[in-house]
Amino acid sequence: MERPTPTDVEREVTNIDMIVSKGDAEGNITYTNPIFMKISGYTQGELLDKPHSILRHPDMPKAIFKFLWDNISEGKEVNAFVKNLCKDGSYYWVLAQVRMAKNPDGSFRNYVSTRKRASDSAKAVMGELYAKMVEAENEGGIDASVKVLEEFLSQRGHSLATFNDAMKELNK
Ligand SMILES: Cc1cc2nc3c(=O)[nH]c(=O)nc-3n(C[C@H](O)[C@H](O)[C@H](O)COP(=O)(O)O)c2cc1C
Repeated sequence: MERPTPTDVEREVTNIDMIVSKGDAEGNITYTNPIFMKISGYTQGELLDKPHSILRHPDMPKAIFKFLWDNISEGKEVNAFVKNLCKDGSYYWVLAQVRMAKNPDGSFRNYVSTRKRASDSAKAVMGELYAKMVEAENEGGIDASVKVLEEFLSQRGHSLATFNDAMKELNK
């Protein structure tokens, strides 16, 4: 499938929207709820078995997804703001909670992402931060981008260890 060309059109996520998807160990989509399909503009057939990166927006820093995978693969939950790309090139912002779900015997079951509305102030702050991180990545790679993120967190009395708390505070 061809990648959509990003536009400046933003799709609204309301306070009651809960955009859910599940993925296998590689991040391939195994389930999406109706609102996921409505907002992204894809049908279930277009999404199932496709990588979650079908939603990847070029404004998103690589370092955020590296942080995501480093943590969820170890069973740690991640709360991160994500700008996602829709089928028609429009975008939407969410605060995504991504975690590993396990079977009763403790083995890996799947990854689950539950996405809710990002506040206007969070979108403004994170949009600016992500732009700086992408710029740093282009010049100095992921390490440079992580440095920008760490500076941002430390200015708010946080660190990578308290990333989730910092993001939740920003969404208030
Ligand atoms: C359950 C789950 C949900 C995900 N949701 C998204 C998402 O909404 N948007 C996104 O860009 N990546 C999402 N990802 C991360 C992708 O797997 C991928 O790391 C990211 O899109 C970057 O893709 P790339 O490494 O091919 O550039 C999700 C991963 C998992 C496991």
